[in-house]
Amino acid sequence: MQDVLKHIDDNVDSRLEELIEWVRIPSVSTDPLHKDDVRTAAEHLVRDLKTSGITKSSIVETDGHPAVFGEMKGPKGSPTVLFYGHYDVQPADPLNEWDSPPFEPEIRDGKLYGRGVADDKGQVHTHLKAVESILKTAAELPLTVKFIIEGEEETGSTHLEELILTNKERLACDVVVISDSPMFSEESPSICVGLRGLAYGEVIVRGPKQDLHSGAFGGGVANPANVLSKILAGLHDDRGMVTVPGFYDDVVALTEAQGTAIRSLPFDEEKWLELTGSPSTTGEEGYSTLERIWARPTLDINGMKSGYTGEGAKTIIPAVAKAKLSARLVANQDPDVIIDLLEKHVRALAPPTVEVDFIRHHGGKPYLGPTDHPAFEAARRALKVGFECDPVEIREGGTIPVVSTFSEVLGVPCILMGFGLPDQNIHGPNENLRVNCYRGGTRSIAAFLYQLAETMGR
Ligand code: BES
Ligand code: MN
Ligand code: MN
Repeated sequence: MQDVLKHIDDNVDSRLEELIEWVRIPSVSTDPLHKDDVRTAAEHLVRDLKTSGITKSSIVETDGHPAVFGEMKGPKGSPTVLFYGHYDVQPADPLNEWDSPPFEPEIRDGKLYGRGVADDKGQVHTHLKAVESILKTAAELPLTVKFIIEGEEETGSTHLEELILTNKERLACDVVVISDSPMFSEESPSICVGLRGLAYGEVIVRGPKQDLHSGAFGGGVANPANVLSKILAGLHDDRGMVTVPGFYDDVVALTEAQGTAIRSLPFDEEKWLELTGSPSTTGEEGYSTLERIWARPTLDINGMKSGYTGEGAKTIIPAVAKAKLSARLVANQDPDVIIDLLEKHVRALAPPTVEVDFIRHHGGKPYLGPTDHPAFEAARRALKVGFECDPVEIREGGTIPVVSTFSEVLGVPCILMGFGLPDQNIHGPNENLRVNCYRGGTRSIAAFLYQLAETMGR
């Protein structure tokens, strides 16, 4: 094991150069203009898996962007780890807010900057390179490793469930490992035991057949922007709770132990608030900030569009008003149920003076992982080896849609150990990954494979 760790430490710089070549490819999955780049990034990944020693690697087609599979067998009868990650990235705009171009990655002050370095190419890279270092220093892997790395996570993993269902045998494993989340802090490598889910919808309010002069017509017909504002304002009460009837019905409350685990974390609220740039924290009454963002469901407006927003004043009654809305969900809320409730409520709030359309976008289920599985203990020990300090148990507020699919279809737990940091700026400008976390992460993954082989070996 010491040889493996040394090999990882000795090769950080050259591997970051390899990672940079991959990050250069703008694999933006939402943007049809980048369709070929997404495929190029998948092909690049297959080559990287092969040079890392995972010789059985290939592209697997879906009805959308391709996925990449890989496999390398360990000793007969040893357990199997399935690594999941995504090679697609979010769009990079606003470009002028980046200190260096998003697809020309650069290392500054111990951090690698670029779109996708943390979400998720840099974290996937730790998996490949941990395996490579084992293969370069030991005779064989301590167990069997498999890879499934998709190109549609940022667009809701639309074709992944089907891919997993049709490849159940090929993906059979004892545990899934995912690195696509941040650590609690640089001093606290983390195992993430809960993720929130997502239900996403869009409301379109239509009034007049075209924009009207607000002097000539204003006051006589409904203004879609006024109406939409009123609908949206009606979605929360004064205590910060969501008013959609039935919204909280399936929410599982935190247990004593889970509450204690969250409260025992050394959370620096001031520092967290600074990251946001907001003047103050807020949220549902009766809950702490960490409870609000990890363990409580929310409903947010993600975008609004209506009327004239250019320079100066223009006096119109807009014909249309639109808003994008999404709810973050916790166990055991179901995105399909929640989106139904949301649509029903929005329609109930709308007056008959306008027409309302409701569009459903992709979603994802929440996830709560087991903490009593042997893989969880193996992860704790591995993170301690990798980062040389004690790990903590956290949850996260973001969504990885496929996590619940893995546990339902493959019947195995997912271990989420991510190596980002709270200031990693994923989805925003200046996305970054700390070099120390990349190194510690690679070490932890290598250590995990040995720990798991030991605890689950047959
Ligand atoms: N890696 C993130 C999820 C994440 C974010 C986990 C923050 C932990 C903390 C993932 O790539 C992502 O962005 N997911 C989307 C959902 C998806 C359906 C577009 C999200 O959470 O908005
Ligand atoms: Mn991600
Ligand atoms: Mn993302």
